[in-house]
Amino acid sequence: MPTKFRVNNEDRLTFVDPMTPLIDVLREELNLTGAKAVCREGVCGACTVLLDGKPVMSCLLPIGLAAGSEVRTVETLAVSDGLSLLQRAMVAHDAVQCGMCFPGMMVTLTDLLDRVPDASRDDIKTALTGNICRCTGYERIIDAVASAQLELVATASSAQA
Ligand code: FES
Ligand code: FES
Repeated sequence: MPTKFRVNNEDRLTFVDPMTPLIDVLREELNLTGAKAVCREGVCGACTVLLDGKPVMSCLLPIGLAAGSEVRTVETLAVSDGLSLLQRAMVAHDAVQCGMCFPGMMVTLTDLLDRVPDASRDDIKTALTGNICRCTGYERIIDAVASAQLELVATASSAQA
């Protein structure tokens, strides 16, 4: 039985077994290879995508359970003129090393800043409990989020002036 769902604002249909993990449909059928299948056990968070606006680990989600839902992947985070403000902050803070964790990290953090623009360092740490980075360490990642928050505030105030 086919599964209908939406990915990054497009209708999609797949005929795979409904128990196939969402990550495999994204990567192998739809060629959306941003999300990474690293542990496949719901531990590392590298496969994180948004399902109806909430971060989920796509290695654990059978595609059948995504029927009728909207999936958003890391591929949508860049903006028309290039990297998003948060992505640029990560580069500026040297927060990305091997990059395996980053697709999931960016989905989680972009979602956090959309919902809680003034998230504290503790909020950021809590949001990242499901995203493991084995290279960078978390301080530079959190510093990058904090600097993106400052820039977002500055941009919002200059737009109001
Ligand atoms: S690959 Fe899904 S949590 Fe690690
Ligand atoms: S940058 Fe390598 S795991 Fe995070």
